[in-house]
Amino acid sequence: MVNRKLSKREWKWDEKRFTDETQKVSRERYDSYLNEDTRKATDAWSEAMGKHIVAFRGLVCDVSTGLGSLFDRLMISTADFLPVATDVDPNVLAWTSKQIKGKYNKEFISVATDAKHFAFADSTFDIVTSLAALGNIPDTKKALKEQYRVLKRNGRFVMMNSFVKKWSRSHWLAKLLRLDRGCIEQYLLEEMRSVGFKDVRSDTVSSAVWAKNPMDGLPVAGDMNYFAIVEARK
Ligand SMILES: C[S@@+](CC[C@H](N)C(=O)[O-])C[C@H]1O[C@@H](n2cnc3c(N)ncnc32)[C@H](O)[C@@H]1O
Repeated sequence: MVNRKLSKREWKWDEKRFTDETQKVSRERYDSYLNEDTRKATDAWSEAMGKHIVAFRGLVCDVSTGLGSLFDRLMISTADFLPVATDVDPNVLAWTSKQIKGKYNKEFISVATDAKHFAFADSTFDIVTSLAALGNIPDTKKALKEQYRVLKRNGRFVMMNSFVKKWSRSHWLAKLLRLDRGCIEQYLLEEMRSVGFKDVRSDTVSSAVWAKNPMDGLPVAGDMNYFAIVEARK
């Protein structure tokens, strides 16, 4: 469902990364760069999302599923909803879908699609979720417009988003990469309201100083990273 012309500049995972061994090594390497405070902060963040997930019903679309940390939580849930995994990159989606199928005996759907050109009809979903998606998609507003469009009336967007401080070094870098709209809380909430979302709110669950991590471009080491649950309604 990814249109080559529309999405030719979008994220592309290296296919060679998708073996059990490479993934294990890469996960361990990534975890080794996280400091203790960040580990605790992300655990609290995940737990806070869990409290929302238990109330999900109907059709739930996860934007930018990637390697599936959030999708895993959706699959573990016993609440009555059908999860839909999406990502612009078919390779990562195929890999994650294979892992999920091997782990859970529960129905799910996966669709390779660009969050800025979503391959779904208007008013399809009861809930849209995401984890670390909008902070990785330049032209945040375009993606938000699509997420708004595919939600049913009164449907909810519930996302796990991390933020950096305005005018921090991370903010300047995000600006250079055209990712600042998804990384600064004030900007993201403004963009959400501007595309029509109502009852937009952000709750910071935890925070930690980001340690140097060559596997992640942002935040800049030494800057504070804030872990929030952002909610809104159509
Ligand atoms: C940091 S990962 C997301 C983590 C993931 N949500 C999780 O729970 O583990 C970022 C993902 O965004 C995807 N992505 C980047 N640009 C995108 C776009 N325009 N549309 C959809 N997905 C996109 C990438 O392919 C990547 O898998």
